[in-house]
Amino acid sequence: MLRDRVVVVGVSGGIAAYKACELVRRLRDRGATVVVVMSRAACEFVTPLTFQALSGNPVVSHLWGDQAPRFQLPRAAAARVRGHVEHVDIAEAADAVVLAPTTADLMARLVHGEAPDALTALVLATPAPVLVAPAMDLQMWRNPATQANVRTLAARGFRFVGPDSGPLASGLAGPGRLADLGAIVDATDEMLRVRTSMTGVRVLIGAGRTEEPLDPVRVLTNRSSGRMGFALAEAARDRGAEVTVVAGPTSVEPPHGVTIVPVTTALQMQRAMTEAAARADVVIMAAAVADYRPAKASSAKLKREGAELTLTFTPNPDILAGLGAARRAGQQIVGFALETHDGVANARRKLTAKNADLIVLNSPEHGIGTETNLVTLVEAGSTVELPEAGKREVAERILDRVLERRGTVAPELALAPRRASATSKRVSPRVVGTKRRAVTTKPAARVVAWNFSMSSRHLLHSFCMISSMPKPSLAISSADSGETELA
Ligand code: CTP
Repeated sequence: MLRDRVVVVGVSGGIAAYKACELVRRLRDRGATVVVVMSRAACEFVTPLTFQALSGNPVVSHLWGDQAPRFQLPRAAAARVRGHVEHVDIAEAADAVVLAPTTADLMARLVHGEAPDALTALVLATPAPVLVAPAMDLQMWRNPATQANVRTLAARGFRFVGPDSGPLASGLAGPGRLADLGAIVDATDEMLRVRTSMTGVRVLIGAGRTEEPLDPVRVLTNRSSGRMGFALAEAARDRGAEVTVVAGPTSVEPPHGVTIVPVTTALQMQRAMTEAAARADVVIMAAAVADYRPAKASSAKLKREGAELTLTFTPNPDILAGLGAARRAGQQIVGFALETHDGVANARRKLTAKNADLIVLNSPEHGIGTETNLVTLVEAGSTVELPEAGKREVAERILDRVLERRGTVAPELALAPRRASATSKRVSPRVVGTKRRAVTTKPAARVVAWNFSMSSRHLLHSFCMISSMPKPSLAISSADSGETELA
């Protein structure tokens, strides 16, 4: 997976920076093109020259400066580059970004979207997946601020590897050592595999809650925030899927890069889901649908009259059951079950009644309105309880299982099942590995030289702004033909 991929190694200022030198070599051994981006503090530990020699590419260590780098990039990566600003160009060329070592300070900056240097600016600008390999003293790692930052980044889709436990530079011992370099390389490979694991798959997700009007002011609804459905949408999007979300009202912002179909009531959601399901490969119903709606919504505001108010409700359609009944051949259907008691038995009943492949069982205290979730995956013949985790991580595991069921790539990012019942099937890395081998790699891309002068481009941009001419972009020269073109 690493061959002909551009891996940006981001080095921040910790003693483990010296280990990044060997990491660069190992990534290149696996066929990756490596570009190193360093923070100012990292340059105190290792010189850019060392990384330049090891990576075979210029090192980016400043946001501003008189640079004329010649990056050696595979043709596919060079084609993505628009050639306006150096750190954005590298961000766009990257297939993966590996931050090794990641200091506590770098994590804090990433959480807040600060970009005072080339490394942080690149991470903000890249659409590529980012792997974080923390390395710091154990007290810094255990500090609640650092742990909160880890959770925030994980919820945004950053992947983590390590830290390992052992002797630290401070003389203390405990968690804080940079992960084993082999583990970092493997995690990078895995991250790239996940990135394309749903390419071309059409995923439909029902998210949020429904609102059933009682009168022009009041609604019957529930406390669902929409986080789980949106986390699923983001995870599927980041794996290359074409994602449609039918979203009822939510308490959080919808993700970008997916098609959002806004609805309010259960009937509207049923219409939108049924229509979109006709072309979906995977349907995931994570919405909290009101089972009943007022038999008649009042057109005028209900007035306080007498001591008691009696309303009559009429059942809403079971959307998931309808989708299950009308499913296309090969379509995967995933539902949720929110249970306060007899969870597995009820989930199993819903699995059959709604003709679903998988029911994600959760409870109100863990699943509704929270940042994390504690779920059990219930299928015919298996029950697997996952550890409590952020909703994005839970979403990744659900998609892993969907892919396993589809018989395609089943990436595994180490959320081992916490407890399994007698009929449980562990999501074993060995099985996963067998399926991984079915993945085809892209044909080798030719290498071109990517060549530009920052300072001269700045001058040209200034000139173009003054004269209102279109901006020229990056000059890409082909190493094998010697041709030069303005792309
Ligand atoms: N669901 C649905 N349409 C409904 C109710 C639920 O599509 N009218 C879906 C939910 O999105 C979820 C699954 O069915 O994927 C189970 O929802 P849940 O609320 O747990 O159970 P219900 O089917 O509503 O049954 P009950 O409330 O009796 O537990």
